[in-house]
Amino acid sequence: MPFPIHRPRRLRRTPQLRAMVRETSLAAGDLILPLFVAEGAAAPTAVASMPGVARHTIESLCATAKEARSLGIPAILLFGLPLAKDAAASGAWSDTGIVQEAVRTLKRASPDLIVITDVCLCEYTEHGHCGLLQPGAPGGASAVHNDRTLELLARTAVSHARAGADIVAPSDMMDGRVGAIRSALDAAGFDQIPILSYAAKYASAFYGPFRDAADNTPQNGNRRGYQMDPGNALEALREVEADLEEGADLVMVKPGLPCLDILSRVKERFGVPTAAYQVSGEYAMLKAAAANGWIDERAATLEALLALRRGGADLIVSYAAIDAARWLEELEGSDPRPLPTPA
Ligand code: PBG
Repeated sequence: MPFPIHRPRRLRRTPQLRAMVRETSLAAGDLILPLFVAEGAAAPTAVASMPGVARHTIESLCATAKEARSLGIPAILLFGLPLAKDAAASGAWSDTGIVQEAVRTLKRASPDLIVITDVCLCEYTEHGHCGLLQPGAPGGASAVHNDRTLELLARTAVSHARAGADIVAPSDMMDGRVGAIRSALDAAGFDQIPILSYAAKYASAFYGPFRDAADNTPQNGNRRGYQMDPGNALEALREVEADLEEGADLVMVKPGLPCLDILSRVKERFGVPTAAYQVSGEYAMLKAAAANGWIDERAATLEALLALRRGGADLIVSYAAIDAARWLEELEGSDPRPLPTPA
């Protein structure tokens, strides 16, 4: 042979060697489990399009959070489902709202669990939009009043912090919300509470099953006026830059696999702690294909999560977090590599 040939096969010969040269790891410690808690619920109810996911009572929420913690998952992301919705989204910012009550109980039950709260109005408005509607305007994304919404988002974040939330995560995509929330938190004495901003959140068809779970489908119009166009990538970088300037501590890209390119560019460009959200539709696809015997659920789910890590995610929000943590435990010592679980 007149020239040397690149021989990756030498490095792939044994499981031990493959494990030693693997660039990316996946561990329970990278995962955030999203959980739904329903106000006034007597028992947990299943979400049909998301097998394994429930709308929890505060009690079953605490039990599931404990289970997650015991498997090495450090954090949960909490969504509230109020009994009543209204035009002002009052359930979102009330100190006795479902999220506030749940956080107080959770923090007593699991003090070392990181509780991240989703900050948005869409589960609490009667019309299902993420912000207040302009008075008199017909429904639709363009009718959302950006600036009047900011005050309520800030109020919501402060009341979550007051209840004991460790991190607040605005998912509404109103312009200027990170700055508004940062100033309000600081003014209320919560300058140590970090903001995880859903910075690049696309108007995605993959949120469908979530809207079943949370009953937050906009009654008129859609979210394309505030969520991002899937055709845009540079805009995502501008969104992330703006959120960082306004004081975001961690940024999120959402959905996950459909946005691997965005994730990787965000991580490369800004180098800040970056989260990816494997959203409800991605979870539902894996579950549905697995239920039909069309894919190996464990292998496919772990591969999808590993891909998000490879794409640049430091943290991954996933409904499959508990399953994944169990599978990673089962796989300790086998190929794919023993994936380290932090103490
Ligand atoms: C609320 C919110 C949504 C999701 C997270 N926060 C719904 C939406 O924007 O319609 C979706 C998460 C998922 O699909 O898993 N604004």
